[in-house]
Amino acid sequence: MNRNEITGNTGVLGLIGNPVRHTLSPLIHNTLSEELGLDLLYLPFSVEQDPIAAVRGAFALGIRGLNVTVPHKMAVMEALSDIDEMARIIGAVNTLVRTENGFKGFNTDMPGLGRALAVRGISLKGQQVIVLGAGGASRAVCTLALSEGAEQVWLLNRTIEKAETLAADLNRHFDGEKLIPLAATDWNRVPEKPSVFLQCTSLGLHEGEGLLIDDPAFYKRATYGYDLIYNPAVTPFLSRLMEMDIPCDNGLSMLLYQGIIAYELWTGKRVSNELADRVMTRLKRRLYGENLVLVGYMGSGKSTVGQVMAERSGRAFLDTDAAIEEAEGSIREIFEERGEEAFRSMETGLLRRLADSAVNTVIATGGGIVLRKENRELLKKIGRVIWLKATPEETMSRVKNDTGRPLLDSASEQELYDKICRMLREREPAYEAAANEVLLTDGRTVGEIVHEIIDPFI
Ligand code: ATR
Repeated sequence: MNRNEITGNTGVLGLIGNPVRHTLSPLIHNTLSEELGLDLLYLPFSVEQDPIAAVRGAFALGIRGLNVTVPHKMAVMEALSDIDEMARIIGAVNTLVRTENGFKGFNTDMPGLGRALAVRGISLKGQQVIVLGAGGASRAVCTLALSEGAEQVWLLNRTIEKAETLAADLNRHFDGEKLIPLAATDWNRVPEKPSVFLQCTSLGLHEGEGLLIDDPAFYKRATYGYDLIYNPAVTPFLSRLMEMDIPCDNGLSMLLYQGIIAYELWTGKRVSNELADRVMTRLKRRLYGENLVLVGYMGSGKSTVGQVMAERSGRAFLDTDAAIEEAEGSIREIFEERGEEAFRSMETGLLRRLADSAVNTVIATGGGIVLRKENRELLKKIGRVIWLKATPEETMSRVKNDTGRPLLDSASEQELYDKICRMLREREPAYEAAANEVLLTDGRTVGEIVHEIIDPFI
């Protein structure tokens, strides 16, 4: 929402915590409001001293709903008019929903993980579940496993006493002694049965940290693994599972769904899986990197520059022409057998997919991709669009020996030159409209161009 779109009717949602500087919640909630067309604005509030006063003040100010994060998830509970049963068991709230008499507290972390797993097709019902870590996050995760009917939950921790206390406490709320505490060093007492692993320690948050349990034999039990950490994207735990070809995910989907469930509680709306996917893409781009899109005429250096740029900035590289050739056969044949329009439609289809899912990628595009208005809009949705511009002379010198370009088939050098001049003139307005920025490449080395483009990003 643009600041000048805020009116007296705009509802306010927010987050209280400390620190809140790096929060991704505004991105989640403001995207949801934008996409659902709701007149709501979500703001972070850094609350250092008195979370109870903050909650009471928020109620007095008419704030519609709040998220609560570290370190106030327990402290705010005494300022609430009511607390949801599951949040009471977990002993912490992260979502406050406005009622007539005050805020009611919920915990959406736990159902957030439940929904993230369900969307992935993972069920804990009747399963052997292995939880690593016995801190605050683990408490919500064990509660989820027990409430979903796991057959047995092994709770492994470096400090056995903490696992014992947590297990004793949670077992009281559920039938039977399904939660079994174990020192991490005793991992081989866990039965060798297919198991879902849920990683809740802080290991992996910082560089150089290893695994709670290093022995690969332990992980042979895993049918699936989830790490609550999402930054970095790949922790040592996830990297171990990936090496063993075991499906796994990081904690970003839990962050997403705890936010979505909170939003549903506040607004009464149901967020579709498609909308959730779109929010996920935005989260990934914010966290793991924007895409950079290169447009320009043939021979402007998109592929060469793009590949070097990808390598230097730690991004993946994708060339739309190469991707289409891989899926559909050579471009020359597509042009000859199915026509230019068919090729342009393939480009549009590919751009749509990239707009939905590409992250941290440098994308070099075909020279004519900008001709369709829809494509120009999609390109900007994908990321930052840079037009690599070159004069006809420079273009001529780069493409004259290349026979893979059907649009440039010519009888003589003069004819080729005239063709390039004409096409550049025709296409320049389209490049201009598609791009966020322009870079003249004449007389510059690939290194110089790459430096100029990615310097501001790294
Ligand atoms: P959270 O609220 O995110 O769960 P926490 O309550 O501080 O965070 O819990 C951190 C978890 O990571 C604990 O299980 C902790 O193990 P201990 O209970 O033994 O402290 C685990 N953890 C953190 N650093 C660890 C390390 N270097 N080795 C093993 N476990 C570690």
